[in-house]
Amino acid sequence: MAAVRPEAPVSNSAPLSSPLVHGRQDGVRFAGTPATVHSALGRIGLAPMEGVVDAETRALLSADGALDWCVTEFVRVVDARLPPRVFLRHCPELASTEAGSAHGPRTPSGVPVTLQLLGSDPVALAANAEQAISMGVRRLDLNFGCPAKTVNRHDGGASLLRTPERVYRVVSAVAEAGKRHGVSVNAKLRLGFDDKQLALACALAAESGGAEELVVHARTRREGYRPPAHWEWIARIRTAVGVPVVANGDIWTLEDYWKARSLSGCRDVMLGRGMLADPWLARRIRHWQQTGERLAPTPWSTRRDVLCRYAEQKHADGMADKFIVSLLKQWLNIMRGRDAESAACFTAVRRETDLAIFLQRLDAWATTLPACNASRAALSWRPA
Ligand SMILES: Cc1cc2nc3c(=O)[nH]c(=O)nc-3n(C[C@H](O)[C@H](O)[C@H](O)COP(=O)(O)O)c2cc1C
Repeated sequence: MAAVRPEAPVSNSAPLSSPLVHGRQDGVRFAGTPATVHSALGRIGLAPMEGVVDAETRALLSADGALDWCVTEFVRVVDARLPPRVFLRHCPELASTEAGSAHGPRTPSGVPVTLQLLGSDPVALAANAEQAISMGVRRLDLNFGCPAKTVNRHDGGASLLRTPERVYRVVSAVAEAGKRHGVSVNAKLRLGFDDKQLALACALAAESGGAEELVVHARTRREGYRPPAHWEWIARIRTAVGVPVVANGDIWTLEDYWKARSLSGCRDVMLGRGMLADPWLARRIRHWQQTGERLAPTPWSTRRDVLCRYAEQKHADGMADKFIVSLLKQWLNIMRGRDAESAACFTAVRRETDLAIFLQRLDAWATTLPACNASRAALSWRPA
């Protein structure tokens, strides 16, 4: 694939909702439906993030149509077949999915949702894959990246990357179950546990086991979330395997997207914290793909609106206010690393524990910024 480069602005921008959108590839313009243009220009997935990316977050971040797929937080499998309520908790989108539906769960705006499983017991994972499939799941993902000590102590997530043979056994058991029902199984890998020596062996093991696509978070478990992400290692994996590889890790801006694609050679990417920091990131990338133009920086008012809508949804779901406040702080904490206004706002609200006051402060602080006043009227909701 040729390196992806920024191009001179052109005037053929089409709204994302347009049934016919335009794209550019290596300087050549073409048009098609969003799905065909997205897959020709490079798909964009939303990364699974336990404790952060729940159904409400998926709904909010996928609403503008710029994402191609989302992944649930992991469902942890030990040895038992889990009851349906566990799958519904992780993937509430299943509640509106007919069992046996060809499409599987989707966000309210229609973006497909993949269910992620984490575990090390091939038999138990296959049994739970069957359970998920019986409830309507059409795409499964296997987690080989979780760095959490409790998970790794119990032999799940990244700890399996120490033994490619075990990666193979887990993937092949679940892929067998998937094949029986025409359900695709993907694997999400880091580059290794302590070092990168087994990066290619693990990717090849996942492919031989039957994974149809690999998502590679370009860091080892030991590297945690520390920059840099080693996108060039994804290129090594991509050239070693025959299945599509999706690049993941440290894509925070449009420029990061170009670099990640150029260095990894991957067409498709998965965005994690970058989407929380800038809810327009996928839309920004999509807009550039389709028009060659850059979108303006995301205004604070958009970030604030996303936080308020999230609070509103969680409140409607019956979550206690103090938990909503801590989720909002967690999200704002990711935003503040990348945006000066969010950083100042975080300082202003960091000690607040009451939801109504927290939201008032968010608003009161926001009114000092002229760009925020325009959208204030749209956000009248406040907890009683
Ligand atoms: C809070 C948090 C929770 C995460 N939970 C999961 C998870 O449930 N499953 C998974 O495969 N990866 C998980 N990840 C890893 C992300 O999916 C992603 O690979 C990683 O954050 C790198 O991408 P980014 O730099 O774009 O955030 C998590 C990451 C974070 C920061």
